[in-house]
Amino acid sequence: MLLVSKPILGADEKAALVAAIESGWITMGERVREFEQTFARLHETEDSVAVSSCTAALHLILYALGIGPGDEVLVPSLTFVATANSVLYVGARPVFVDIESPALPLMSLEEAEAKCTARTKAVILVHFGGYLADRDAWQAFAARKGLLLIEDAAHAPGLPAAGTFGEAAAFSFYGNKNMTTAEGGAIIARSRALREKIRQARSHGMTSSTRQRLASRSPDYDVTMLGFNHRMDELRAAVGLVQLKRLKDWNDIRRRLSLHYRQLIAQRCPSILVPFTNEWLSAHHLMPVVLPATIGRQTLIDHLRGQGIQTTIHYPPVHRLTFYNDLYPNCHLPRTDAFAYRELTLPLHPEMTADIVELVVGALVSGMDAELPAEAIA
Ligand SMILES: Cc1ncc(COP(=O)(O)O)c(C=O)c1O
Repeated sequence: MLLVSKPILGADEKAALVAAIESGWITMGERVREFEQTFARLHETEDSVAVSSCTAALHLILYALGIGPGDEVLVPSLTFVATANSVLYVGARPVFVDIESPALPLMSLEEAEAKCTARTKAVILVHFGGYLADRDAWQAFAARKGLLLIEDAAHAPGLPAAGTFGEAAAFSFYGNKNMTTAEGGAIIARSRALREKIRQARSHGMTSSTRQRLASRSPDYDVTMLGFNHRMDELRAAVGLVQLKRLKDWNDIRRRLSLHYRQLIAQRCPSILVPFTNEWLSAHHLMPVVLPATIGRQTLIDHLRGQGIQTTIHYPPVHRLTFYNDLYPNCHLPRTDAFAYRELTLPLHPEMTADIVELVVGALVSGMDAELPAEAIA
């Protein structure tokens, strides 16, 4: 089966894991610190904080920024549920904002403006599929409205422009991302003070880490805030350090494969819409396409699966998930619904080649030619 995404792990990751195990120190220590510094260098920024997941990263950012009960945070519904969940974790309310259009499935600035209230404190931008939101426009909006700007950059590790928009950005190293530590995440924060607050909140609010206490004369510590256990560990950092060496090359392969997809789809099945443009700044995490309304998506998914090609959907809109629909039943996001109903994510990972892209597009063409019936619109 050709998978939509695939972790690339080999002898170097194995060796790094063995070395971490043999070091005798497996919880957060020097490898995690080295990972933070290497990730920061790759993003051309001063420092970063490594955590257990991107979800933990979002939680820590909102918490450290003091967002809480009574506050509202603008979020897209076209995202993974973790973006909205993190807002609920701190007791605030996520306010879902529609996308611009099927060709530009990022949060609409106009809609964001319309949904601002006196309670709105922050906006979380999601760089959907690795395609970056418009930095200047969102910075101007946040400044005008007095909002904190946060990036959910789960899809954009290795792209230095991600992490430069606002107060802080959260990255994911989950197994299907552009690089992986199995589970894992990182935070880039603009100010040192915010970064240090996040660092402390990551580990129970303690004033020193186990490793620091081992290295110092004083075994004592204090707790000066409510904290969490959102730490990364040495095994993940060891794998991550190997992956970081290859991330830029992998992102470049993703870029070339995306371009190839775009060109072939334009030639061979022009009724399929490929969002964004060739030139759009992107880490090319996903290869999303939008099917014409006449094509039955599930039938096409089955057709592709029959040819050994996995496809997925990004995303079932968060406001449509039972939990959120029960919480906020009157949420209407017609452009998000229309996109999500017709979206299909094609395989894209660095072990693919141009030939495999051609194979996928060939299978799409044959599926489209079969004039698969459209399902009734839900
Ligand atoms: C947009 C987005 N935000 C947040 C997350 C959560 O990442 P993690 O699994 O590292 O917690 C994901 C993961 O898929 C994601 O796609």
